[in-house]
Amino acid sequence: MAGDRGLSGPHLARILGAWRSARPGYVALAAGVRLLVLDGRLPLRTRLPGERELAAALGVSRTTVAAAYAALRDEGFLTSRRGAGSWTSLPADRRAVPAGIEAPPEADVIDMSAAATAAPEGALHRALAGAVAELPRHLPGTGYGAVGLPALRAAIAARLGARGAPTAPEQVLVTAGAQHALALLLRVLAGPGDRVLVDHPTYPNALDAIRAAGARPVPVALAPDGWDLAMLEATLRQAAPRLAYVIADHHNPTGLTLGAADRERAVALARATRTPLVVDETMAELTLDPGADPPAPVAAHDPAGEAVVTIGSASKAFWAGLRIGWIRASPTLVGRLALARATLDLGSPIVEQLVATELLADAEPVLALQRSALRGRRDALDAALGAALPRWRFAVPAGGLSLWVELDAPHSSALAAVADRHGVRVAAGPRFGVDGAFERFVRLPYNLPEPLLGAAVERLAVAWRAVAGNVPAGAPEPALVA
Ligand SMILES: Cc1ncc(COP(=O)(O)O)c(C=O)c1O
Repeated sequence: MAGDRGLSGPHLARILGAWRSARPGYVALAAGVRLLVLDGRLPLRTRLPGERELAAALGVSRTTVAAAYAALRDEGFLTSRRGAGSWTSLPADRRAVPAGIEAPPEADVIDMSAAATAAPEGALHRALAGAVAELPRHLPGTGYGAVGLPALRAAIAARLGARGAPTAPEQVLVTAGAQHALALLLRVLAGPGDRVLVDHPTYPNALDAIRAAGARPVPVALAPDGWDLAMLEATLRQAAPRLAYVIADHHNPTGLTLGAADRERAVALARATRTPLVVDETMAELTLDPGADPPAPVAAHDPAGEAVVTIGSASKAFWAGLRIGWIRASPTLVGRLALARATLDLGSPIVEQLVATELLADAEPVLALQRSALRGRRDALDAALGAALPRWRFAVPAGGLSLWVELDAPHSSALAAVADRHGVRVAAGPRFGVDGAFERFVRLPYNLPEPLLGAAVERLAVAWRAVAGNVPAGAPEPALVA
């Protein structure tokens, strides 16, 4: 068995964290490594350090490490070859994937790991033609611009106004997508060691951005039916986060939408605690069911952008390949962000900004087509899961791009690992949480065409049968928060 990568003793010691418990040393160590594998934090086929090296890094005897490795081997979490080393594996792997069968070629894998759509073909071509026609007017300039093209800032402000949050173009900063917007905000509003309040679960790349800024995500659990405002208030007051990051519309991954009264209350809490409320509206335009539009934007309760900072994007409504997003804030904060941006990039590309301007100028027909295609796909995925995996439970969201599915056993990481071998890629629940939460959940986007969704569900059902029947009874269940 060839390992994909290896890690050193000190490295494994670091990610093991506080592994010691009241149990015998080798049992506790084996449990720590097993949890890392199940949570996906220690990828499959990773070569573990030698016994002597890990013993030195952990300050334990070599016998302890040898016994832990032996236990892991017995359970199927480790595969060893004399003289070559030991690699992480899954018990389910051994039985689900007959020896000699490798992962399918990349082209045959159905990728359900990204909640994003293909470009709306005709509309994108037309917008590009319009942008090319506009381009000559911009060529005499340098092409640099930290806040964005005036026409695009005006178009974004107009769209926000039409949705119920009157906005001046000076309140808008154009970014390279919502992810860039969050990174920029973190750079300006938070620093190493700061706390950042997050919904739990939340968008994984937001968690990564917070950690990359040296800050610490402080989770506030979402209930099955929405936000817990009392917990939000307690966390704002007690944890004193530098900012709060909330996905208020068709939340990724749960599909939940913050109600009108709770929006008003959340803004009042942000004001009272002087905590900037960063609202990610990336999914806001993807309401699939008639009459299920989210309430007016959270920013409607804060016209000047003093308490609420809004992040938006063209990625889900139109196409992520444009890499166009925005921030709505006070003109003062827009100025600070524009200055900070100079250390990251010096502005957004002109042609893409012009394309986004064109798309926003006549958004409704494009959005209507996107929504109706997604509605059909959502319903197809719902039906396919109901038929093939009736014990998985989920609420069908009124919008957004994915189902947040509760499995009938807490083995999401194992499912993701085994499903990959069966030709379908999914994001395991723990990607959406902190500290290994959400092993009982998996996110399944419905952005792909219906026949592919059907095939993906068939593969998932095979993978799940292998996983659910194979995880040893003695394996610890990772902590569940939701
Ligand atoms: C909630 C949320 N925020 C941000 C992003 C990133 O969007 P962008 O492509 O605009 O960077 C996504 C993409 O999935 C998302 O779901």
